[in-house]
Amino acid sequence: MAVVKQIIPVALGERSYDIVLCPGLLATVGDRLRALTTSPKVGVVTDRHVASHYLQSTLRSLRKAGYDPTPIILPPGERTKTLGTIAKVLDVLARHKFERQSLLLALGGGVIGDITGFAAAIYQRGIPFVQVPTTLVAQVDSSVGGKTGVDHRLGKNLIGAFYQPRAVLIDPLTLRTLPRREWIAGLAEVIKYGIIADKEFFAFLEQEMPAILKLADEPVIHVIKRSCEIKADVVAGDEREADRRRILNYGHTIGHALESLGGYRGLIHGEAVGIGLVQEADLACHMGLCAREVVDRIRSLVQRAGLSEQVSRTAFGPIWKAMQHDKKVVGGQVIGVWPVRIGEVTIRPIEQQICAEWFQSTHGRGRKTPSGSRPGKPSIRRKTRVRK
Ligand code: NAD
Ligand code: GLY
Repeated sequence: MAVVKQIIPVALGERSYDIVLCPGLLATVGDRLRALTTSPKVGVVTDRHVASHYLQSTLRSLRKAGYDPTPIILPPGERTKTLGTIAKVLDVLARHKFERQSLLLALGGGVIGDITGFAAAIYQRGIPFVQVPTTLVAQVDSSVGGKTGVDHRLGKNLIGAFYQPRAVLIDPLTLRTLPRREWIAGLAEVIKYGIIADKEFFAFLEQEMPAILKLADEPVIHVIKRSCEIKADVVAGDEREADRRRILNYGHTIGHALESLGGYRGLIHGEAVGIGLVQEADLACHMGLCAREVVDRIRSLVQRAGLSEQVSRTAFGPIWKAMQHDKKVVGGQVIGVWPVRIGEVTIRPIEQQICAEWFQSTHGRGRKTPSGSRPGKPSIRRKTRVRK
């Protein structure tokens, strides 16, 4: 991979920072912190999987730059994203006498980034933190924008804070060790950006998906860069999700519901979002907001990325109930994001009755498949993974 450094600014006034995207960056992470903290103490929060690949080299780079790093290694996976874990992280910081200028470094995927950011937000009322994302989901989405937090038994990400990192340092070479399933899951968030904001990027993904799936350097760097640019632009315009930032939640209303219904044991985040992208487009079409062709293009790209697009067998009641526990509920109304055309979405509430009608017609008994035929006799063979 040719060494090309890209810098994408996130313009947030005094909370502004840079996203630095550079192959091989991890080896110089220590040097890059120099401008960000004067304290020698750095807590490196990571999980066991990531630690096995990247902890030693990160610690080496930090020590070489004069830092005194404390590793904090957590169990991998969504089920670690709890208040209990936050308490454990805070415990380590207090025991090691971390101060206001001491820095936390989130080395890992979205789970580690969300936990680290929240711990940084509340320890001594806020200490600096830096994101070093190592999954595709984290490199294109979760490390940027300052949403931090943990899950509650009744809903995902219910507890947290908006707290911006001091920098996002992306080394795309770390994606080479990412399990295939995690890589593909990340593509759901990438496809989301094309749908919500950039029809040319969507067309690029349609054209380049085979190369992207082979992890070809150039298209992968472009995917990360363009995703970060779109996210940075949306966040700069609406940091605390008063309005436009909601568009980033496209695919997540149904996606989060499916994730929490599975007790965070079945679908991983990106897989749930992939289903959400298609199902929410289908619902938008049912509401008359977009043409069937829009749904078909989204479904086709999601499938070509190797993602599932179907809801496994479940009743409407539990899904609707899970949707009610989402943060996107305002005054009891579920606020959804709906595609109008590729590259443009609209934000509006969804009524239970309309959602129930749609669910019955697409997932209930006697439903019609997207091609208009009865289920069981598909007119086209679709490559989907349906979890029971
Ligand atoms: P994750 O953090 O659980 O990481 C997925 C798996 O990959 C883990 O097992 C991890 O150990 C492993 N891993 C990470 N990097 C690796 C690497 N380079 N090589 C080998 N293994 C590696 O999952 P994720 O998909 O990165 O993040 C999902 C989380 O992010 C969810 O909790 C979601 O809510 C959150 N999220 C937050 C935001 C936000 O704006 N804050 C946005 C999107 C998603
Ligand atoms: N991932 C949604 C957001 O950052 O707003």
